[in-house]
Amino acid sequence: MPVLLDGRKLSRKLNQGRVKTAAAQLERPPGLAAVLVGADPASQVYVRRKGLVAGRIGFVHKQVDLSADIDQAALLQVVADLNVDPEIDGILVQMPLPKHLNATAVLDAIDPSKDVDGFHPINVGLLAQARPLFVPCTPLGVMRMLEDAAIPTSGKHAVIVGRSDIVGKPMAQLLLQANCTVTICHSRTRDLAAEVGKADIVVAAVGRPEMVLGEWIRPGSVVVDVGINRLEDGRLVGDVHFESAFKLASHITPVPGGVGPMTIAMLMENTLRSAALRQGVVLDF
Ligand code: GUN
Repeated sequence: MPVLLDGRKLSRKLNQGRVKTAAAQLERPPGLAAVLVGADPASQVYVRRKGLVAGRIGFVHKQVDLSADIDQAALLQVVADLNVDPEIDGILVQMPLPKHLNATAVLDAIDPSKDVDGFHPINVGLLAQARPLFVPCTPLGVMRMLEDAAIPTSGKHAVIVGRSDIVGKPMAQLLLQANCTVTICHSRTRDLAAEVGKADIVVAAVGRPEMVLGEWIRPGSVVVDVGINRLEDGRLVGDVHFESAFKLASHITPVPGGVGPMTIAMLMENTLRSAALRQGVVLDF
């Protein structure tokens, strides 16, 4: 039986433990602003969850709901206002944005010192140079799960399925910095099953339901599933076929209750970090 990597439990421990405690010791509570453009149901759920967790641990939380047909200039003005808002330490603009908007320009407009998603090119560059300020929350959460479960990374072969800016690419940087040998697979990879079969650690982040099959997994490997896909019958599944992978893995993340809650926990940690920096407080973690 593999070890289930329980992100719900770990995220609760982190949020309610050192993050909440450190936040309470600041002069001013950490402030997080979430910008939601349009009414995509999944994005609404994610933003609401982030707000709920922020509120529970004593952060100031502001949700800015904008109409799906907002124009680029108006959205940039919202970001500019949050950049100078003294109560706000972290700004996130929920992705994806409606097609008529230029997401790159919006992310570029966020003050890098408030970019708790780690998507600004300054933060992407700092991570690539292994001197990070803010690291994207999902890959950071994955690293924290591996650490918490005492899973060794040095010299291990990590195979990442997916090359997104939000997960795949920063995940590769972090695993490389943890001394893994890293392979990034994507839609043009020739023999995906063979690549996955070489992995000690598999991270699936493609957004396609159950596309990584259990039979591809090398027995004893660690399986991290970043995907959250809703099937037509209403079931939530990951990018990995869980039942078959479960039989072979040494450790595996469930969906839901795996990586998802860790993403939110890391957003809280990044926001706390930003608030502490702004107030000249040094955190001991
Ligand atoms: N869309 C999917 N994941 C994320 C995330 O971590 N942050 C934001 N802002 N949007 C997302």
